[in-house]
Amino acid sequence: MAIRTIVKHPDPILREKAAVVTKFNANLHKLLDDMAETMYDADGVGLAAPQVGVSKRVIVMDCGDGLIEVVNPEIIAFEGEQFDYPEGCLSIPGLRGDVRRHKWIKLRGQDRYGNVFEMEADDLLSRCAQHEIDHLNGVLFIDIADRVYPISKEEEGE
Ligand code: NI
Repeated sequence: MAIRTIVKHPDPILREKAAVVTKFNANLHKLLDDMAETMYDADGVGLAAPQVGVSKRVIVMDCGDGLIEVVNPEIIAFEGEQFDYPEGCLSIPGLRGDVRRHKWIKLRGQDRYGNVFEMEADDLLSRCAQHEIDHLNGVLFIDIADRVYPISKEEEGE
């Protein structure tokens, strides 16, 4: 495994629509392993492949309940609204935003071997998944936030 460099806004790769994954091979497994290591190293809760310079539909997340890998993720159902948790992004250091998100979602995706699965997520994990899927469509939280503001000095040290 290796820590990869996190691409920062305004790198144009962050604005591309990422490609559907069709090959579930060693390259994909290495990408997933490296993404997880890069996310943990950066103290993030989620990372999308374009953020490590790979324009493919791959995300990893860990909101405290263990690592979740989703290839070709799709939101197939959603309910409710949440807007009470400040959002940030490893590609946009120093900023937070208030972003309206679905409170609950159902996702369909594939695991690293290509097996299709569905999962439900609410609250922080739901927010995280929506944020990461936005990355696959070239959307950043600063585009859709009601308000964007600098991170506080105290928070920066966390
Ligand atoms: Ni992000």
